[in-house]
Amino acid sequence: MKLTIPTLFGLEGLTAEECRFYGFEDVSADNGRVTFTGDFAEVAEANLRVRTGERVLIELAEFPAYTFEDLFQGVSAICWELWVGRKDAFPVKGWSLNSKLHSIPDCQRIIKKAIVGRLNSRYHIEWFEETGPKVQIQFSIMKDIVTIYLDTTGPGLHKRGYRADANDAPLRESLAAGMCDLARVRKSGLVIDPMCGSGTLLIEAAMQACGRAPGLMRRFACEKWSCFPEDLFPEARARLQSMIRKPDSFEAVGYDIDPKAVELTRSNAKKAHVEDLVRVKKANVRDLRLPDGPLTVITNPPYGERMLDTQQARELYKVLGQKCVPDPERSYCIISSDDEFEDYFGRKAPRRRKLYNGMLKCQYYMYIHEKATSGGKKNGR
Ligand SMILES: C[S@@+](CC[C@H](N)C(=O)[O-])C[C@H]1O[C@@H](n2cnc3c(N)ncnc32)[C@H](O)[C@@H]1O
Repeated sequence: MKLTIPTLFGLEGLTAEECRFYGFEDVSADNGRVTFTGDFAEVAEANLRVRTGERVLIELAEFPAYTFEDLFQGVSAICWELWVGRKDAFPVKGWSLNSKLHSIPDCQRIIKKAIVGRLNSRYHIEWFEETGPKVQIQFSIMKDIVTIYLDTTGPGLHKRGYRADANDAPLRESLAAGMCDLARVRKSGLVIDPMCGSGTLLIEAAMQACGRAPGLMRRFACEKWSCFPEDLFPEARARLQSMIRKPDSFEAVGYDIDPKAVELTRSNAKKAHVEDLVRVKKANVRDLRLPDGPLTVITNPPYGERMLDTQQARELYKVLGQKCVPDPERSYCIISSDDEFEDYFGRKAPRRRKLYNGMLKCQYYMYIHEKATSGGKKNGR
């Protein structure tokens, strides 16, 4: 099967790297997505292990369509009876860009009609109850090329299950995982987030350090499908659980001025089973004293958009810049939507990457010294 993982823009390369690390074949990264080939086993593995992607889709067909008749015929040709059981719910959603077929409700209606027609001729059922498991059908139409997918994931992969509660401006878990990768978080070392909010960066760093698969705490849509082999998820879960190792010398330390955020980080770390690796304390970044020796600061400060005003946010960047003094043993990685961040932080970042935090275009400023990370062992994921 051809499998696709949509990603946040800027994270495609990291997701592709993850997929190769997990042994998936024919991995290729494109704008906002990664594709590879695999069987149901890889579907389970990808859902359970991929940290930086959004969901795992099975591609059922790709064909050109200029008219609704083309769309109807293309969808009718798919062997829907292999995927959708007699009682399953099969809602349709999707999008269209630069194409003749641009009305989404009409496309949804035609696709649904084609599927019902096909299932009708196989199951000899007139009316589908759709009371069973949900098999979400997704379509995309790009320059008149239709792609039909099944969504195996359900709620996005970023919903790990540890963060039912968040503060006002939380980072998406998949983005936080990508930021940790880019900051070269390893199985050992000290990671500090001086403005940790609900603790997402610290928790993702800790989960990576101990090799805890991000999907171990949740279920996936395809687990309920009648076509999905029953034993695959339980077997993969048991194997991945046995791969968790307490790292020798890893610690993630968080601070926040808001006592509620401190409590939230603590309880989220507990839910994620990494409370032994995450320490958190109430503190103002103005009072921050970074300990001596190698460390990595990763943080998502207020940008002056959803939290504080621009001037107050810039004051914090200035303070952060004073605390994060250049040191070949240390890395500092900060995400912000403020184009003038570097002016206030006080130094140009040797590396930066454009990332989107929700709808906000941001830059990830990476003050990384080769020496700080070159000796560390690459994360075992
Ligand atoms: C954008 S949020 C961080 C969100 C976090 N990355 C998450 O995923 O939940 C910024 C955090 O900075 C904290 N903060 C604001 N001013 C601070 C200061 N002077 N010292 C320490 N923390 C501060 C806020 O309380 C807030 O929790």
